[in-house]
Amino acid sequence: MNKPTSSTVILGTGSYLPERIVSNNEMAQIVETSDEWIQTRTGIRKRRFAAEGENTSHLAAAAARRAIEDAAIDPSEIDLILVATMTPDMPFPSTACLVQSQLNLPQCTAFDIQAACTGFVYGLNIAASMLQSGNFNKALVIGAEKLSGILDFEDRTTCVLFGDGAGAAVLGRSNTPGVGIIGGIGGADGSNPEVLCQPGGGSAIPPTHDSLDQRRHFLKMNGKEVFKQAVRVMNQASTDLLKKTGLAPADLSLVIPHQANLRIIDSLTKRLNVPTESVFINLQDYGNTSAASVGIALDEARHAGRIQSGDHILLVAFGAGLTWGASMLKWQE
Ligand code: UT7
Repeated sequence: MNKPTSSTVILGTGSYLPERIVSNNEMAQIVETSDEWIQTRTGIRKRRFAAEGENTSHLAAAAARRAIEDAAIDPSEIDLILVATMTPDMPFPSTACLVQSQLNLPQCTAFDIQAACTGFVYGLNIAASMLQSGNFNKALVIGAEKLSGILDFEDRTTCVLFGDGAGAAVLGRSNTPGVGIIGGIGGADGSNPEVLCQPGGGSAIPPTHDSLDQRRHFLKMNGKEVFKQAVRVMNQASTDLLKKTGLAPADLSLVIPHQANLRIIDSLTKRLNVPTESVFINLQDYGNTSAASVGIALDEARHAGRIQSGDHILLVAFGAGLTWGASMLKWQE
């Protein structure tokens, strides 16, 4: 066992978006909707959909390869793979195991995290704890989704909102204290699971001809209820983590929220009282990619020059469960 040191740092990031771009106007050819409705209510202009045969594990592995290259480490140093997803290639084995094989990483503990859209943030916090235990040296945390596979393209209230993609980060330890992932927080409330769920296909409603005919294997959402909860828990998680880390909103160089709806992000921006320029938004291009969204945004923010060494960055997410979580980073190059 290696002796733990005081910090867990992000050594590299990567993301992958499938090639196929689907505009709001194209969605309007599938369901009764309009570019105007989607943009006004959500901020989304387009999304990406994976090709047939391009599964969540492929998206995850592609993002991971980029993160490993960015970290400039030997891939064989990775001994932990966490894949956050609610659209695994199959119920089991885990998508993390499929990624292990695709990346040919010989010595890994690999498992999936099911925390819906909060998955990447949960993953960072869990991996940081596991690295600090001294039992693991380098972790690959990936958020990846092929949501197009569980969308009901007869339900305009959900299918226009989501897209496919993957974001990844390589984590390691640093001897410099007080850098990297300097705090994490998470929460869950499973008392009302039906507000956002995929009811069929599990042990409660196994796949049958009837359950398929009733379209129960598709994502279902009570958008209004989720919206209300999202605004509340995003703010609560952010405020709690600021308090826990002894920081004020003015200390934040960048906030990277889960990309579900521009109105939810605007409300968080106002409640936290941070300038709009310090909030990263890319949902106009990708829609809601669930567990992938924060990882993709983190990678894009870095490549857009929005992150400098020493910056405090707040990652905050919420999702089905209901789950919520936040991570505080003090970026170190
Ligand atoms: O990652 C976590 C997950 N999800 C979220 O964060 C989603 C949270 N919720 C939301 O983002 C919003 O609630 C939605 C974008 C889903 C919906 O926006 P809303 O302002 O809450 O709209 P609504 O559900 O109240 O619907 C308003 C109207 C309804 O028509 P009526 O009943 O007023 O005549 C809907 O039938 O808009 C209609 N509508 C649509 N019209 C055109 C719903 N979906 C569509 C659509 N195109 N795609």
